[in-house]
Amino acid sequence: MTSADQEERHASDAARPAERGGADDGPDGGAVTAGGRVAVRTRALTKVFRGFRAVDSVDLEVREGTVHALVGPNGAGKTTLFNLLTGFVTPTSGTITVFDEDVTGQQPEQVARRGVARSFQITSLFETLTSREHVELALQGLTSQGFRFWRSEKLLGRHRARVDELLGQVGLTPLAEKPVGLLAYGQKRALEMALVLALDPRVMLLDEPTAGMGIEDVDRTIELVRRIAAGRTVVFVDHNMHVVGSLADRVTVLQQGRVLAEGAYDEVRNDERVITAYLGEADHA
Ligand SMILES: Nc1ncnc2c1ncn2[C@@H]1O[C@H](COP(=O)(O)OP(=O)(O)OP(=O)(O)O)[C@@H](O)[C@H]1O
Ligand SMILES: [Mg+2]
Repeated sequence: MTSADQEERHASDAARPAERGGADDGPDGGAVTAGGRVAVRTRALTKVFRGFRAVDSVDLEVREGTVHALVGPNGAGKTTLFNLLTGFVTPTSGTITVFDEDVTGQQPEQVARRGVARSFQITSLFETLTSREHVELALQGLTSQGFRFWRSEKLLGRHRARVDELLGQVGLTPLAEKPVGLLAYGQKRALEMALVLALDPRVMLLDEPTAGMGIEDVDRTIELVRRIAAGRTVVFVDHNMHVVGSLADRVTVLQQGRVLAEGAYDEVRNDERVITAYLGEADHA
């Protein structure tokens, strides 16, 4: 947008962590759920790639404090929708609001400043760096002071505590000093979760957090997502219906870029159109 906008956004950064504190929580400290605010809303959101409608007139409403699953066959437009919500792809038409603020067409870093953070479907870590170093870098990226920040012993100590906390949250404390290249797949995905958590997002988008995992890692990830979902809004994509059923308050089913069905897991699971969409996918596999 305009440079004035950007300056304003930078200026408000420092205030953000403090204002996040309790403003979004319910009276008992828990998230406001039914009847609460809308965290993310899209209206007629559309992305056309060279004539192909990857996301086609999607109206999505994610309520604050809920865990919202996005499911659908391969190519349904789930990742594209994530890319739109986080500014990595510009919509062809339609609008996106985050807590009622219009973020349509904003850059990823601008959307991130609204409190939206995401993980990617494909892992993208540095094999030679340790988990600790990854988390340190993620936190460092948040400070406008950059490297100077690290010269203050006091701040460094505070930072270290936060790094330890994040590594602990995702169960990586014993492996913190290992190069990431030596970690198991599930551990790498856990680290990616820590990197998203480092941003302390109000809205967390996870693209296939359990993809390629064995059953043990899947169950561990379900527990992890459940823990980090406390006090946040989570939108996730997953093909594993056990994961969706375990975590999601609400499920939106996409097919060929459009919303096919939406509701609680049990409603959606028994929806004939949804069953057909998935069987259709199996037929083509
Ligand atoms: N940058 C792009 N350029 C052209 N086509 C694209 C682009 N990104 C996605 N598509 C197409 O849009 C459609 C939706 O892709 P998308 O990755 O969003 O699906 P998905 O639901 O995430 O699938 P999966 O479950 O396999 O991850 C696909 O047909 C894909 O080929
Ligand atoms: Mg995808």
